[in-house]
Amino acid sequence: MWRQACRPWGPHIHQLTGYVDRWSARAGGRLRFMVSSAADRPYTLRFVRHLCADPNPDGPGYREVPLKTPLDGRREGKFHAGSPGSYARIEALALPKDGGLRLSATIWPTLPGKGRQSLIAIDVAGVAIRLELGPHGGAQLRIGGEIIAVDAPMLARRWYAIEATIAAGGRLSLSQTPLTPVGVIVDGGRAEAAATPTPLAGIATVTIAAALEGKDLLAYYNGKIERPRISTLGGAVVADWDFSQGIGTQRIVDVGPQAAHGRLVNLPTRAMKGAGWTGAVHDWKAAPEQYGAIHFHSDDMGDCGWPESFALDVPRDWPSGFYAAHIKNDAGEDYIPFFVRPAEGARTADVAFLVPTFSYQVYSSYARPERSLEILERSRAWGSLLETPGFNPDYGLSTYNYHADGSGVSITSMLRPQLDTRPRQMSLVDPAPKGSGTGRIGCDSYVIDWLDRAGIAHDVLTDHDLHEEGIDALAPYRVLICAQHPEYHSERMLEAIERFLARGGRLMYLGGNGFYWRAEPGLDTPHALEVRRAEGGIRVWATEPGESYNQFGGGYGGLWRRVGKASHAIVGIGFSVQGRHLGFPYSFTDGIRNERVRFMTAGIEDAAIPGAKFGDSGFMGGGAAGFELDSADPRYGTPPNAVVVAKGVVIHDDYRWVNEDMLVHRHPRPQEEWSCADMTFFETASGGAVFSVGSMTYVGSLPPETYGNVLARLTTNVLRRFIDPRPFP
Ligand SMILES: [Fe+2]
Repeated sequence: MWRQACRPWGPHIHQLTGYVDRWSARAGGRLRFMVSSAADRPYTLRFVRHLCADPNPDGPGYREVPLKTPLDGRREGKFHAGSPGSYARIEALALPKDGGLRLSATIWPTLPGKGRQSLIAIDVAGVAIRLELGPHGGAQLRIGGEIIAVDAPMLARRWYAIEATIAAGGRLSLSQTPLTPVGVIVDGGRAEAAATPTPLAGIATVTIAAALEGKDLLAYYNGKIERPRISTLGGAVVADWDFSQGIGTQRIVDVGPQAAHGRLVNLPTRAMKGAGWTGAVHDWKAAPEQYGAIHFHSDDMGDCGWPESFALDVPRDWPSGFYAAHIKNDAGEDYIPFFVRPAEGARTADVAFLVPTFSYQVYSSYARPERSLEILERSRAWGSLLETPGFNPDYGLSTYNYHADGSGVSITSMLRPQLDTRPRQMSLVDPAPKGSGTGRIGCDSYVIDWLDRAGIAHDVLTDHDLHEEGIDALAPYRVLICAQHPEYHSERMLEAIERFLARGGRLMYLGGNGFYWRAEPGLDTPHALEVRRAEGGIRVWATEPGESYNQFGGGYGGLWRRVGKASHAIVGIGFSVQGRHLGFPYSFTDGIRNERVRFMTAGIEDAAIPGAKFGDSGFMGGGAAGFELDSADPRYGTPPNAVVVAKGVVIHDDYRWVNEDMLVHRHPRPQEEWSCADMTFFETASGGAVFSVGSMTYVGSLPPETYGNVLARLTTNVLRRFIDPRPFP
């Protein structure tokens, strides 16, 4: 497979990094690892299990357990570049012997004038035919050494019909027709020229939205393409790719006589409205013919495609938990994380920790240049792993970023180094005096540390396992723990959790902003997740009108709340306020005196009285209630039997309510009611129960006093009662 030219790397590029083919394996299963080592330097490999992945020297204490495998030791290294840029590829298309060629497409360019960008590239019998945007943004046709171009540049984000003809006698013509002319600006035109005839017959390869130049793939296009076609000048169809078919897959369908179907590379965005969208339909499934466009981006990233460096047969005796392949040489170091589940048929614990790998992946590769430098500085001081997606654009972006053309990133893949989703790493420079600034694996490992120190047997499973296996993945467990930030779920995952609760399962939700957005993997791309940022929600970009239905699965994208599945109905609370990464204490309410929650206060009776504060220290923002908070609200589905036992009220200039609740400039309810984390408990009809804390910094307040503080003891009390099989009344 050919590769695009690797870009020059900056001083901060990871010298040694890699990825794994799956988030998790059962003990006894196999994981494949792909590694890139700059300058082909050798490296050493070992495996570790993480009990606490926080690198903060003043934190709870980093704990990794070294493990032995036959793979350990020195390994040869090889450099591999990232290769962003999406395109479509058709391996074989027979071109007619005579009759000339007509190439056409409807396009919506987003970066016209930003370099040469290929629309349809045909390579046949040593001849290169290129229909493209020229460097100045007008249509251009090149064949052999001949070139014709339209002078007028196209305007960004407007539709054009582009057509080029190559007559058998050699004559070339080109037209660029705006479909909605502005009138006062010339943005269309024609070009024509006589040229030396070039024989074109033979089996061609066709590339859409990029072009092969020598050995490198270049000239990536930014924008939409609809209905690229090739025909003879007499009108006989050679190929006609209808992108409204196969939406949701990486296959493009040729409705022409040769059925020369192609494949998409690097996950461009489908289910995009075409030039004929009327505005009357918003669901592509209802009128696919109006959704025949694909939006290609020069910075899309689907699969780095590196060769396997080593494969681990996970030893059957490794306990379920957080693991990493640790690779290191003089130039660099990385931990490639993975999660181990109990071996097939092995005894399981009563407690399962659901690792939010959907949320990890949706956030991963979040380029935040404004943060990166200060993180680098502290990482060097702490000897922790660098967090550098902003310095490694070749590995693609996060769904919290924009593409180079200003459109939002909606698809994220795990088949690339996720440089900011690592153990022994911080996500931000914590403003609190002893704050760790951990995110994802770092802060979720506090839960593992807590369970380990409390001697509570537990297994882990991942969101990806839950999506794949549904309720079966949860069947062995009585208690499910979700931790700091389980924000993204697929429909199958939510259904599985609902069924688990309906069967009497117990759920501890120890985080904030959970169960919020829909994220769906592709059927033929389980390594990819799609998030459409539809109406409502705290989000850095929003879907364009008419483009809120996911290409993967076809569901309405965005907030679960918008499709009648608000988190309140599952965990009793929902996202209501967000602010800086600061932590504030909780205070017990009168609810803590309720007989039904008496089990929570065993051993802390003196501290657990209405009005008393707790959770006032911690390694995330310095307190238990902060960053993103969830409150109870019966209007959205908080069960009528829910008891709020404590509240972390945050009245702070930097905290604002979520925009889905923002109707006018004032919130309809008193601030104390919504600007808070509501620690909530309720029993379910089948003897189960739910305990939710509603704050993203909560888990950071488990470790103080070696997990012996009031908050940690209360949380342990809840877990012990939840493990107890006696049904809740
Ligand atoms: Fe979030």
